[in-house]
Amino acid sequence: MMLHDTIAAALDAPLFPEAAAAPPPALQPGAAAAERPGTPGAPSGGGGASIVLRDVSRVFPARGGDAPVAALDSISIAIPQGEIYGVIGRSGAGKSTLIRTINGLERPTGGDVVVDGVAINRLGDAALRDQRRRIGMIFQHFNLLSSRSAFDNVALPLELAGLSRKAIGEKVLGLLDLVGLADKKDRYPIELSGGQKQRVGIARALATDPRVLLSDEATSALDPETTRSILRLLAEVNARLGVTIVLITHEMTVIKEICHRVGVIEAGRIIEEGLVCEVFAHPRTTTARAFIGSLPGREVPPALAGRLRADPAGAAQTVLRLTLTGAAAGQPLVTRLARELGIDICLLGGQIDSIGALPFALLYVGVPAGAWAGGPLRARLEAAGATTEVIGHV
Ligand SMILES: Nc1ncnc2c1ncn2[C@@H]1O[C@H](COP(=O)(O)OP(=O)(O)OP(=O)(O)O)[C@@H](O)[C@H]1O
Ligand SMILES: [Mg+2]
Repeated sequence: MMLHDTIAAALDAPLFPEAAAAPPPALQPGAAAAERPGTPGAPSGGGGASIVLRDVSRVFPARGGDAPVAALDSISIAIPQGEIYGVIGRSGAGKSTLIRTINGLERPTGGDVVVDGVAINRLGDAALRDQRRRIGMIFQHFNLLSSRSAFDNVALPLELAGLSRKAIGEKVLGLLDLVGLADKKDRYPIELSGGQKQRVGIARALATDPRVLLSDEATSALDPETTRSILRLLAEVNARLGVTIVLITHEMTVIKEICHRVGVIEAGRIIEEGLVCEVFAHPRTTTARAFIGSLPGREVPPALAGRLRADPAGAAQTVLRLTLTGAAAGQPLVTRLARELGIDICLLGGQIDSIGALPFALLYVGVPAGAWAGGPLRARLEAAGATTEVIGHV
């Protein structure tokens, strides 16, 4: 029942769409497409915010003996058109409530939700239905209708919009081609893999030419390889169509793969926000640190952890965690400083990666104890853009 509620409202369909008699009259097909920005691609920054949340709260009232729940607590976010904005948080943090508030499935108890210049929380039901066609949504469990083929699932929002069969045919085939499923158009959901089902879900979400695409844990039911392919598809959709994407997840790998900015949500509040590479390099909250720390390659290597001591007395080396992003990560910093300062630097572990298009390096190194205490090493590392943390002594 929950699933049908969600999908029907998100698609603005009746609860059991296959039994629907007539399409709703109010839609003007193609209106959203006509307003699409001329230069899709990277976030515009100055091009105006696509989604603005101002002091948004959602309190679920007390029920039975339970206290009221503040699922969202004064959240303010501004997301420019064309950005991929990730929201990461633990279970119960308020992620789904947040995303449901953005497409008007949930009405805030305080504040405003402005999508494409329209305060959707102030709209009446009919106007909200119209506005929702400009907001696509994809779901963790795909929410496809099992009795419809891939083609007919994607066609559904267009049928509801009253498009001609010919227009629907052209549009759906184009969308199935975009998501790489042109050859699977007549398959039913049961005949498709999880990744293929999500591709159908993405094609369906794009059918009404939305300016905004919302994704609630859309890759959580998929294996890592399929997750990457779906994330790549979302990045391509963002780049080709200029669609703003809000992506909810509890996995930092998802954020790292395609998001431009990230907000960390906890107990209904955004407790930290920034460019993904900045939050990765300089997490400010313990929650952000915990999410980032759980990524492969981030942990202190077990063999090193077993030898680390907190007390520097008598230790030969100081062990540092160096974090470098952007241009700093591309320099031969370690070898240059070793040569110029005449010290040995032991590489003890770490990760060299890219976040978005930016190089990122996290290195565990051991430096002679004397070289760290009082020497120029720290200043030289920091001048080169490295963040340094002493994590112990060996
Ligand atoms: N309809 C509702 N009525 C009462 N409380 C609700 C309702 N929906 C959500 N909540 C509560 O609001 C809080 C946030 O829920 P939400 O579903 O947004 O979390 P989430 O971050 O999406 O969690 P998960 O990762 O488990 O999906 C939780 O405490 C939840 O119990
Ligand atoms: Mg959720």
